[in-house]
Amino acid sequence: MAIDDFERYPLTFGPSPIHPLNRLSDHLGGARVWAKREDVNSGLAFGGNKTRKLEYIVPDILASGADTIVSIGGYQSNHTRQVAAVAAHLGLKAVLVQETWVNWPDPLNDRVGNIQLSRIMGADVRIDPHGFDIGIRPSWEDALREVEERGGRPYPIPAGASEHRLGGLGFANWAHEVVRQEEELGVFFDTVVVCTVTGSTHAGMIAGFAALEDAGGRPRRLLGIDASATLEKTRAQVGRIARNTSRLIELGRDLRDDEITVLPGWAGDEYGIPVESTVEAIRLTGRMEGVILDPVYEGKSMAGLIDLVTSREIPADSTVLFAHLGGQPALNAYTAVVP
Ligand SMILES: Cc1ncc(COP(=O)(O)O)c(C=O)c1O
Repeated sequence: MAIDDFERYPLTFGPSPIHPLNRLSDHLGGARVWAKREDVNSGLAFGGNKTRKLEYIVPDILASGADTIVSIGGYQSNHTRQVAAVAAHLGLKAVLVQETWVNWPDPLNDRVGNIQLSRIMGADVRIDPHGFDIGIRPSWEDALREVEERGGRPYPIPAGASEHRLGGLGFANWAHEVVRQEEELGVFFDTVVVCTVTGSTHAGMIAGFAALEDAGGRPRRLLGIDASATLEKTRAQVGRIARNTSRLIELGRDLRDDEITVLPGWAGDEYGIPVESTVEAIRLTGRMEGVILDPVYEGKSMAGLIDLVTSREIPADSTVLFAHLGGQPALNAYTAVVP
């Protein structure tokens, strides 16, 4: 099956906008940088990358006859906020396990931002003391069992919708959308920069761009910037999901190692803790462009982009597409570091 043959339940406004970041590009003095804006891709609770992934998962949810979506993330998870929005939109219940993923002392961490939005949308929010892990979690399995025990029909969505069989399809489709927009705009992005943590955003792009290249498209560099600070785990998860997604869309070959690039250097020591380069990237992008980045994900991938452009690791004649995947509601829980 090609990507267009998979059922997709529309949750987004349509293709997400692409626009140049001219003042930021001038300031960096090298490659020209553009952004594709998943942070404004939907009217459902500010959207984001998970909303795109969920477009390919909702048909499976509806076919399963489930009445409750059960998912998991940190207190300030953007993913669980988007699950809550989609559940509300579909008239389903949501049970959200919110773990203590981030070792961050903000006193309002469990009340403002994403978690507040999930509560507003009627989700059953469960605070859980476990720490960060992108894998399958016992607390999430317990929540699934509990829904069953009270006679409900749960539909499981793991962290970031990444370890879900269909989790990579949303961003395989994103690659095709980019090519159509390139034609309309008369531009070619030789380099794409994306933040990676649970992996299926980046993995979907890998599969999608591989299929396009095999069909005669121009090759390009896809650079994942690690924001998990558990690099090897994320690298392995990206590779596994990219291969799974490639099989789903019938790529017909294994992926080469050079198609899977996850770069370390901007995550800091811990997931969810912004470092100096994160805060600088947030401030610079805000001042230069009026574009808001978050301290957990895109602040880190933009810090990577800034360094790669200024060091000429991305050459000065490149045209770069920065994937802005959303996440701004979490800023409210970081007032101490980005006042
Ligand atoms: C705003 C934002 N950017 C980037 C990511 C990373 O995406 P993924 O988990 O698919 O690697 C996430 C989710 O983890 C996110 O919420």
